[in-house]
Amino acid sequence: MARKIVITSGKGGVGKSTMTALIGIALAKKGERVALVDADFGLNNLDLYLGLEGCDGYAIPDVLAGKCRVRQALLRHPKYPTLWLLKGDKDSFPINAQTLKGLIMQMEGEFDYLLIDSPAGVGEGFLAAVSAADEGVVVVAPQLSSVRDADKAIQRMKGLGIHTLSLLINGSHGDLVVEGEEFSPKEIAKLLKLPVLGVVPHIYGLSCEGELTPHIAVRYAAEILRGGKRRVYDPTKRYSGFWGSIRRGLKRSL
Ligand SMILES: Nc1ncnc2c1ncn2[C@@H]1O[C@H](COP(=O)(O)OP(=O)(O)OP(=O)(O)O)[C@@H](O)[C@H]1O
Ligand SMILES: [Mg+2]
Repeated sequence: MARKIVITSGKGGVGKSTMTALIGIALAKKGERVALVDADFGLNNLDLYLGLEGCDGYAIPDVLAGKCRVRQALLRHPKYPTLWLLKGDKDSFPINAQTLKGLIMQMEGEFDYLLIDSPAGVGEGFLAAVSAADEGVVVVAPQLSSVRDADKAIQRMKGLGIHTLSLLINGSHGDLVVEGEEFSPKEIAKLLKLPVLGVVPHIYGLSCEGELTPHIAVRYAAEILRGGKRRVYDPTKRYSGFWGSIRRGLKRSL
């Protein structure tokens, strides 16, 4: 039976879809059977991040309208045979929690992981995505607005009975953390009172157009999700000590 994990954040644009795609790829590379569910109707981007935007096929609204079965709507990734995508739709589509939950339940026997990419905010779409899951990964950027919105999302999720929650801190700048100019992962974890699944650095030039390659930080996070070795990437490492201070100086002067 698949683990059903919602990837959410409260605040928009902090990397939910990117992390859903990257963690999905990292899990599939380990042979796990993974389906990514794009529950962000209207602003769906997962196909783009997976390099599957040109692929025609059915999307969630087609399944709900009875035009096809879930199986027919699942798009297999050409490079990772155990990775599948259930597309959202480019048009805004009203979906309620019960409907999405029903659809997800039809898939749970076929996969090890169902990763549900939630829309931003804590509205109707968030509610549907969260209701379909048993666990949550909260993507949070190291900025106050993101931490505050993550807190709201966490409280809503707990209210909905989701207590297996962890943080994926995304876009961390190791140099700024060392210099005390950005929240450290530890500070964020303390504020939000949740365990850290991973810390992903800000990756210069991370492409959102075309296929992504999981950074080592994401691979570590995927390994923790699988119940493997607990390692969290430390983006401050290369900016600490003597050589680190030189790197920081060089970065500042750019
Ligand atoms: N670690 C990172 N380093 C650099 N850029 C990143 C990183 N993570 C995400 N991005 C970029 O940030 C942008 C927003 O990412 P993404 O679409 O995944 O956010 P989102 O939370 O899903 O947004 P939305 O709330 O609109 O659904 C994209 O251009 C993506 O490439
Ligand atoms: Mg998104």
